Amino acid sequence: MSDSRNEQVSVSAAALPAHVAIIMDGNGRWATMRGLSRSEGHKAGTEAARAIVTEARTVGIRHLTMYTFSRENWSRPKSEVKFLFELLVDFLGRELANLERQGIRLNVFGALEDLPMATRMALQHAIGRTAHCDAMMLNLALNYSGREEILRACRSLVTEGVAPADITEEAFAARLYTAGQPDPDLVIRTSGEIRISNYLLFQSAYSEFYFTDTLWPDFTPAELHKALETYAGRSRRFGRTQEQIEQ
Ligand code: IPE
Ligand code: IPE
Ligand code: MG
Repeated sequence: MSDSRNEQVSVSAAALPAHVAIIMDGNGRWATMRGLSRSEGHKAGTEAARAIVTEARTVGIRHLTMYTFSRENWSRPKSEVKFLFELLVDFLGRELANLERQGIRLNVFGALEDLPMATRMALQHAIGRTAHCDAMMLNLALNYSGREEILRACRSLVTEGVAPADITEEAFAARLYTAGQPDPDLVIRTSGEIRISNYLLFQSAYSEFYFTDTLWPDFTPAELHKALETYAGRSRRFGRTQEQIEQ
């Protein structure tokens, strides 16, 4: 595989997405194909995530959102759910100093209250420790549901007594987990599934999508570059004609 740093030059800063959101899918299939347990797949997936976070930071992506655990994932076997949260605590313990050194600020999209105590504490600690970091925002979508996020924004608008005429897209967006961050320019999904699985439903209205058959543990920095190159070649029109874009 070619050196990712060499490929980096092929995407100019102007063509780089400000916000990349990833659906990290395929850990289980990766493990099954190798006769390993699903847990082994998740472990390998964590290693892939670590490399992608660093690469995204290196190329200059300012916002990276990783789908780590969906609200629907609670319906998996208890032992798998338990393992995933333990893995997260382990990851934070090992990686926190690295994140801080790279200027990566950690953030969570999703309710922390419902997470196991140890996970919540590890996250709160990491969020606090990296609060001053400003090279890249790393959002973990955890216990996340796009529909629930929309309902949550509705509830805040009602609770705050916002007048119907003041319910603008901006007012709504300010009550989403992504408040203050740009919408994802690029959404990547691995493992060959072509669906959104309740991810960033409001924010992905005009995102570019990149689907790959690669299973998440095999998603390397070189694959990230491929996605970024594909994105750089897309024409984002936002409803306009190609001629208008070129003017
Ligand atoms: C993604 O991999 C990780 C999580 C959803 C937590 P999967 O565990 O969904 O892997 P597959 O889809 O079963 O292969
Ligand atoms: C989406 O993957 C959630 C995460 C990657 C955390 P799933 O594997 O849960 O999605 P579905 O169930 O195949 O749609
Ligand atoms: Mg899956």
